[in-house]
Amino acid sequence: MKDSMEDIILCHGGVGSKERPLDDMKGIAEKAYSKNPLDSVVNAVVIMEDDPRFNAGTGSVIRIDGSVQMDAAVSIPGKFGSVIGIENVKNPVLVARDVMEKTPHIILSGSGAVQFARKLGYGEYDPKTERTISQYSKMVEALKKETTDNRYKIFKELIRNGIIDEPHDTVGAVARIDGKFAAAVSTGGASPMMRGRVGDVPIPGAGIFCGEKGAVVATGIGEEIAKRVLCHRIYERINTDKLENILREEIEYFGENLAGVIAVSHDEHAFFSNGSMGTDMFKIKV
Ligand code: GLY
Repeated sequence: MKDSMEDIILCHGGVGSKERPLDDMKGIAEKAYSKNPLDSVVNAVVIMEDDPRFNAGTGSVIRIDGSVQMDAAVSIPGKFGSVIGIENVKNPVLVARDVMEKTPHIILSGSGAVQFARKLGYGEYDPKTERTISQYSKMVEALKKETTDNRYKIFKELIRNGIIDEPHDTVGAVARIDGKFAAAVSTGGASPMMRGRVGDVPIPGAGIFCGEKGAVVATGIGEEIAKRVLCHRIYERINTDKLENILREEIEYFGENLAGVIAVSHDEHAFFSNGSMGTDMFKIKV
């Protein structure tokens, strides 16, 4: 889709999100809009982290051991910040932004990320909801019966039997404002998963990449996306073909593994997934 010289925010509510009413995605993008691209994508992700329908911030999935560990990342050209396995904060994406803007590092993980957040004044917050607690109980019961199976077989079986939802996944946003790019992403992970498991979101180039040519954010099974370094692959291909074709080709590679992507370049935007993905955008002519 050609859209040179328009400001644009494109956000998604995760591949596998069809079960929930996500028809207000455009409203989210509209509310998030600011003349600063980083503010725009962070605003969009904060709105989705605060919405319990999404698997990010409030509503993040509960891990096998009963904990909620969240990953989030932000990027602008040449800069990156992320948190891995952060616990008991309301908005992981804001902490990721602080990692980028207030430290010499690119990633803080676990207790270090929590400690950093507390020092900056982020209060204690429990992101569990009734829905995630009930899903967790069902998952634990089902896992007890499936102990000899490998993770993906268990996972597919649980979905087939309606024990857990498809991984209503990561939320993310990309923006081009005044020709400048930014990207942000946040997730509770891909259930079921062990404590300590890390997916694609906090790894530069895997679930997020932003440079002078554009911004790319992914959603789906983090292990598969990270092995492929998907967002950097797509970024490197920008301007070699229509963005839409690039996204389709890259997502088709994943076969049955759920994956989706949103991207903006200087004069195009596109999204593509192999499952339904709550996705919409806000565009403004400048
Ligand atoms: N894409 C989110 C995750 O796998 O953690």
